[in-house]
Amino acid sequence: MTSGRKTELNRKPIGVFDSGIGGLTVVRALHKRFPHENIVYFGDTARVPYGPKSPQVVREYAAQDVEFLTGKDVKMIVVACNTVSSVALDVVTKHAKVPSVGMIFPGAEAAVHATKTRRVGVIGTSATINSKAYVNTIRQIDPDVQVFSRVCPLFVPLAEEGWTDHKATEIIAREYLFPLKRERIDTLILGCTHYPILEDAIRNGIGEGVELIDSGAAAANEVGNALKKHGIENGSSEAANLQFHVSDIPARFSEIGERFLGRKMGRIRKAVM
Ligand code: DGL
Repeated sequence: MTSGRKTELNRKPIGVFDSGIGGLTVVRALHKRFPHENIVYFGDTARVPYGPKSPQVVREYAAQDVEFLTGKDVKMIVVACNTVSSVALDVVTKHAKVPSVGMIFPGAEAAVHATKTRRVGVIGTSATINSKAYVNTIRQIDPDVQVFSRVCPLFVPLAEEGWTDHKATEIIAREYLFPLKRERIDTLILGCTHYPILEDAIRNGIGEGVELIDSGAAAANEVGNALKKHGIENGSSEAANLQFHVSDIPARFSEIGERFLGRKMGRIRKAVM
């Protein structure tokens, strides 16, 4: 490949998709780590949540999400959505014509490294927890780690509403996390894009001394490795261009999104699928 063509490829954006707004936590982690990588984000806000849906439906949506990003000429696809990563990563790999990275392996690996007592908790949507994707991956890495899982469906709408420091969120977090607290876990995987948004309430609910693993932040390492492996890092020193597309415009997408990202989002485009 000539160096001109290589530069052209390297400047292409990384495509990131999620069922809604939560994947912006992954964009935040990626942008912090790779400030010169252009990113195209797609949030399927018309069909969120994916978590309570059947694997079959999520797999259909995942194929369409990949098709949308492929149309944006991305050089890599990051599956920010833990639900898709749990039940449809093979669909993404099959449809994407570029390398792809999911959330499960990086989150599981980070938890196995972090735990000292070998008692790890995982919280996620019902599709993620029922798939046992985290449990199986952790067992493959270290069969001696005990895993305790809990479905926390209400966290998604609370995060979409931006109720980060609301009393209701504190109460629900305590209720959801009590069984994991009782199991004396020392590490908790936030196995859903939306959960880092509620980090304070989750920290209060699970109690002191439990390490929280943000699977999106953990995935940034794997993205870095994949960029290097395929020789597609953007060597430019220009500020990155971040573009946001959604399948429906929820009233507060940019307001809440800017809070998650810690920066202005610019125009939010309505995706034509
Ligand atoms: N993005 C989903 C996940 O990470 C959470 C929201 C949903 O249920 O669609 O699992």
